[in-house]
Amino acid sequence: MAKPDILMPYRLLPIAEAELEKRFTVHKLFEADDKDAQLADISEKIRGVALGFGPFGPELLEKLPNVEIVAGFGVGYDHIDVPACLGQNVMVTHTPDVLNEEVADTAIGLMIMAIRELGQAEQWVREGKWAERKPYPTTQATVRGRTLGIFGLGRIGKAIAKRAEAFGLDIHYYGRSKQDGVDYTYHASLKELAAACDTLMVVAPGGPATNHAVNAEVLKALGPTGVVINIGRGSVIDETALIAALEDGTIYGAGLDVFEDEPNVPDALLKLPRVTVLPHVGSASQATRDAMALLVADNIKSWFETGKAITPVPEMKK
Ligand code: 8YV
Repeated sequence: MAKPDILMPYRLLPIAEAELEKRFTVHKLFEADDKDAQLADISEKIRGVALGFGPFGPELLEKLPNVEIVAGFGVGYDHIDVPACLGQNVMVTHTPDVLNEEVADTAIGLMIMAIRELGQAEQWVREGKWAERKPYPTTQATVRGRTLGIFGLGRIGKAIAKRAEAFGLDIHYYGRSKQDGVDYTYHASLKELAAACDTLMVVAPGGPATNHAVNAEVLKALGPTGVVINIGRGSVIDETALIAALEDGTIYGAGLDVFEDEPNVPDALLKLPRVTVLPHVGSASQATRDAMALLVADNIKSWFETGKAITPVPEMKK
């Protein structure tokens, strides 16, 4: 039987490319000199899309009349137009779970970096200031005794909470509803959560429902000792409001792995002394990224072998 044709619009990790090539005819659009011409040649026969680092929207969808599945890379899928896919009866998958522990490790690392200024302290050594016998100034903030407010207590949020428990932090959360079997303190609104904690950990997914949820009002509620950590999506925080809150002391500091307009980080943010920035590396160890990429391939394999995907996005299960 002919192998199903799979479109790879953007580069995926080699491990997944190799896996898919064993059973499918894979069309690597990113390698084509004339992408439009290649797409026009193959579009009718494409039955699946293996996404790497890039979006999937109606422009591509409408060129693929026979596509059955779009397999996304990443637990977050705000770069995929799920309603458009649902409308065409196209399955959408993502890569949950395999990255939970890695992202939680990064979140805790980022929180400590931000509060104890570890990135800035490392720079101090590299710039030779320590060798000049100048000690790095003591940090005005400490992780000790903090109250952690988690916005988005899903699988990654829970992995972060478990680690934070070991750090002796008091843990609160906000989400759509109070969760059964969870002992952390629940708040019915984000503003209430911010008012009750001094460290706001943003793990919520992107998309219209969370867009700019962390706004000026929430930051004000967090208060002058407050530190915001964002390991979820840049769109969840109103970056302009965040910069203003940091500049005028409404909050103390921030640790950010994600931004509104990646890979662009506003200069105003970089100029602030108590801000730690990372280049969206939450899940970015080779082992975890390989596991995510393999799950992209496995979803496609499963779809064509059994008619079922392994990890459909929640909207597909309704
Ligand atoms: C992805 C992420 O690797 O899984 C997610 O949602 O944020 C990252 O770990 C990244 O979004 C690549 O698409």
